[in-house]
Amino acid sequence: MAMRQKYVVAALVLAACTGKAVSIATPVDELVSSTGVVVSAHHLASDAGAAVLAKGGSAVDAAVATAFALAVTYPAAGNIGGGGFMVIRQADGTATTIDYREKAPLRSTPTMYLDATGAIAASATDSGWRAPGVPGTVRGLAMAHEKFGKLAWADVVMPAVQLAEEGFALSESLAGELNGALTSILASFPASVATYGKPGGGAWVAGDTLRLPQLGRALRAIATGGPEVFYTGWIADSLAAQMRAHRGLISRADLAAYQAVEREPVRGTFNGYELISMGPPSSGGVVMMLTLNQLEALGLVGADGSADGSADGSADRSDARTLHLRIEVARRAYLDRARWIGDPDFSEIPLARLLSKEYARELAAGIDTAQASSSAELGKDILTPMAESPQTTHFSVVDAEGNAVSNTYTLESGYGSGVVVAGFLLNNEMGDFSKKSGYTNTGWAIGTPANLIAPGKRMLSSMSPVIVTKGGALRLVTGSPGGRTIPNTVLNVVLGVTAFGEGVRAAVDAPRIHHQWMPDTASFESGAATPAVLAALRAMGHQIKEVTARSQGDAHSILFDATTRTARAANDRRSPDSGARAPKP
Ligand code: DON
Repeated sequence: MAMRQKYVVAALVLAACTGKAVSIATPVDELVSSTGVVVSAHHLASDAGAAVLAKGGSAVDAAVATAFALAVTYPAAGNIGGGGFMVIRQADGTATTIDYREKAPLRSTPTMYLDATGAIAASATDSGWRAPGVPGTVRGLAMAHEKFGKLAWADVVMPAVQLAEEGFALSESLAGELNGALTSILASFPASVATYGKPGGGAWVAGDTLRLPQLGRALRAIATGGPEVFYTGWIADSLAAQMRAHRGLISRADLAAYQAVEREPVRGTFNGYELISMGPPSSGGVVMMLTLNQLEALGLVGADGSADGSADGSADRSDARTLHLRIEVARRAYLDRARWIGDPDFSEIPLARLLSKEYARELAAGIDTAQASSSAELGKDILTPMAESPQTTHFSVVDAEGNAVSNTYTLESGYGSGVVVAGFLLNNEMGDFSKKSGYTNTGWAIGTPANLIAPGKRMLSSMSPVIVTKGGALRLVTGSPGGRTIPNTVLNVVLGVTAFGEGVRAAVDAPRIHHQWMPDTASFESGAATPAVLAALRAMGHQIKEVTARSQGDAHSILFDATTRTARAANDRRSPDSGARAPKP
């Protein structure tokens, strides 16, 4: 049988003796397929991708169909008004990446988000007409399709048109989320309320049908007219006219000038595996490789892949040593992110050094294996002397030939800027730029030169779509949303497979940890460490915040077995509507 659905039901509802429901499902189901698989944050978008595979489409065809469908079924993050990154590895071993990150509009200035006192106006990029960067998604998907698509463009866009025009049933989770958005981020924008509000008024409930006719019209135009209609046709006219009317920044010239870029992947090795990921303007690939190279230098795993000498040959995910080292190497990797990374078309980035094993060894040599270090001390050269969430989505695709796509794209916050034009939501990605030159604090602000605002520049991202191979064969496709937590979330899955001896379900389910240099606090999803290990880490000097819910990221992942040529997909149950789908035989 080409496909079989395997459910090993181990849904444990742990009720703590406090009576507080700690509902930790530990499902271990994986969708196993030898005819390709798509796993995304919405099962209907995975269906769209799987249907394209069934028609003979390539992994890229399926990825494009999934991305357009998510723009309909997952409005918080699926988009045509945002941007992202796609990592593509063909079965012949060649790999490339497509950078379709948004750009600063030509009328941007370095001080545009400072108030009259020179302070960062915190809410300036939260929502509204001055928050969006020039969208890249449609150009990026078109570039991927042009290079690697087998089916006609219209065939990969039409499933999304159908979903938008015919509508789809809301889950309880999406109904609740939309009701929330309608009273917050969308509330100030009449076109957004008209687009996502329930016809006739009232609150959405599970089972209601959400139809998006304006989005359907835009998608249909893109399906028949190609990306030009978005960048130079009536969609561009409509977007630019509304921007003018609301004193926004994006002009027709911005849209006409926007191009996606094919870039060399960032590559590195760890424990006998190769990682293929995204380079700048994403920090994802660099942060992940800096982290893994330091872990290797510290002997978390043996250089020969023999792991740390533990009985089963795998390192232990949740012992104090592993967790201490992970915090220490993340601290240093994220400091280098803050120090160096931005748009490579605007800034010199010492990429070769950052990715080298030698540099990682130098960094690792400064790590005390028994004591936490200080982020402030390590980064004092960039800290200002008087120092004082969420939406993105990732999906993974493997086709029957073993071609793979790892795609993460975003509107930045949930529902982006909240602004709808021509039926679609615009991003608020400008918030990913550094807003004040020279101002790097012990909180979230970074003011180093690489990521300051400039017209036409791409803002720094943390998105980390990655493809992992072993012995030249495809092994893992993963990625996640979650802002600055992303590289750590993705590594949580990558380490599960490459160092901790886990299968894809266990690696996706495992509780995650995060440290990002500043703020100097590690966050642990519940269950990441026992109370005794937490106490040991705190005694070493770590500040640790426990996050009770499983809420760090959303890593829809595929593990590939090159010997049997089967893919095992695990959706991330942190995302209630997510699902894996294989083409129906
Ligand atoms: O590009 C980035 O790094 C951010 N704009 C991603 C935002 C994000 O992941 C929010 N999602 N949960």
